[in-house]
Amino acid sequence: MKFFVDTADLEEIQEANDMGILDGVTTNPSLVKEQGNVDFHEHVYKICEIVDGDVSAEVTATDFDGMMEEAHSLAGIHENVVVKIPLIQEGIKALRALDDEGIPTNCTLCFSPMQALLAAKAGANYISPFIGRIDDISSDGMTLVEEIVQVYDNYDYETEVLAASIRHPTHVKRASLAGADVATMPFDTLLKMLDHPLTDRGLERFLADWEEYKEARKAEAGMA
Ligand code: E4P
Repeated sequence: MKFFVDTADLEEIQEANDMGILDGVTTNPSLVKEQGNVDFHEHVYKICEIVDGDVSAEVTATDFDGMMEEAHSLAGIHENVVVKIPLIQEGIKALRALDDEGIPTNCTLCFSPMQALLAAKAGANYISPFIGRIDDISSDGMTLVEEIVQVYDNYDYETEVLAASIRHPTHVKRASLAGADVATMPFDTLLKMLDHPLTDRGLERFLADWEEYKEARKAEAGMA
């Protein structure tokens, strides 16, 4: 399973990359806004220079021509850029046109398996079902991931299922069990995947025993 971080924070991206397990980054206009007064294109370039993997950057136009213009401009920033396209009618047209041009895409804001099927038929490289936002309205986001995986498997679509809007490690666990190709998550969630009280307690015990062992060896050497 590939792990992406869902952030535009350069320090977080660097830290995740330093762990050696990062496969890519997803951003969106809201995440870019959090970074304050930054130049979008320069910022995307900086992210691409940190991580050796796919970096999603989203268009904000909602018409075909506008999306294509932005997509060309974003794709020109760096070879790692994957253009994020919203799952609307004009977006489907843009996905098809960009696929024909060989520009990689991530189709975003997916909330149903039929939307996902349209995106795959249009040639999207990634489909991003938003798990957490579905959970937020008292439904089960992970069912959507399971259904998309099944639909794509039925027809051998190569579009990768990118579980998005992940809020906690259990989302990552369930996405991996469902067969999602990628999980994109906040950096904080990536770190939380490490947490286990038995690991902490076990390490504490091992280190304490090691100290006692060294002390005993020292004492024995002193007596000899
Ligand atoms: C995915 O690419 C989106 O950027 C993201 O996962 C949205 O997550 P949110 O619902 O936590 O904003």
